[in-house]
Amino acid sequence: MTVNTTTAAPRIAAQELSLRYGDTPIVDHLSVHLPAQRITTIVGANGCGKSTLLRGVARLLKPSSGTVTLDGTDIATVPAAELATRLGMLPQQPLAPEGITVADLVGRGRHPHQRWFRQWSEEDEAAVASALEATGVQDLAHRSVDELSGGQRQRVWIALALAQGTETMLLDEPTTFLDLAHQVEVLDLLRELNQERGRTIVLVLHDLNLACRYADHLIAMRSGQIVAAGTPEEVITPQAVSEVFGLDCEVIEDPLSGTPLVLPRPKDTHPHRG
Ligand SMILES: Nc1ncnc2c1ncn2[C@@H]1O[C@H](COP(=O)(O)OP(=O)(O)O)[C@@H](O)[C@H]1O
Ligand SMILES: [Mg+2]
Repeated sequence: MTVNTTTAAPRIAAQELSLRYGDTPIVDHLSVHLPAQRITTIVGANGCGKSTLLRGVARLLKPSSGTVTLDGTDIATVPAAELATRLGMLPQQPLAPEGITVADLVGRGRHPHQRWFRQWSEEDEAAVASALEATGVQDLAHRSVDELSGGQRQRVWIALALAQGTETMLLDEPTTFLDLAHQVEVLDLLRELNQERGRTIVLVLHDLNLACRYADHLIAMRSGQIVAAGTPEEVITPQAVSEVFGLDCEVIEDPLSGTPLVLPRPKDTHPHRG
């Protein structure tokens, strides 16, 4: 059997999923699957429902209709404590308790693993240390999260997601406040987790070119719907970019990675410049 991203077994599948805030429908009868042990990136304009979809998939938002399954089981039936050890979610704007230190915040990622009879263990300690190291924030361990820069804080949140050690990680715009070097560092780290530990990773990204470089499977959304899903090469075409972002562009092959590279077409060309 040939395995590609579209035929890989879904870790998570949504069927006819509808999500709303109050009476306002945001996601309407959406069906999607997120392949196991792959990196899926979700792209789409601001407000199209990416965060809402992730919340629905992580059971932070109850569907008004439809279902979400995790390895074939309806997540509505999975006990909360079990779900927390299988599925980790880094929200777009996470809130840290005031005054908490970096080490304590990242340590909270280990809570689902603790039991009344087995409190903080060496395994927890090692998971936190390795998450701090992987994200390069070990020197900040005893600092208060409040006093960090946006980029440092973002890496601390990623460390928390790593410390959770879940087989599936959902990350909502994990690179937004990072400079390009740190964006690439975080994405390389996620790829390593995927390739070396088989983690299933789903992330919302704004940078289309990075989304294409790191995705096995790419999902483009517009107005609460999936416009296209498949490999980056299948999905990212000038037509799709125009449909999803209203952007006039040319798509060429990224000379370094061979993946699609989106070049927005300048509004004004300057013929006199040649
Ligand atoms: N908590 C909320 N209550 C009411 N409306 C919301 C809430 N969160 C998001 N929305 C609305 O849902 C729509 C989709 O938002 P969101 O999923 O955050 O989009 P994206 O992540 O793609 O930018 C937007 O119109 C937004 O205003
Ligand atoms: Mg969002």
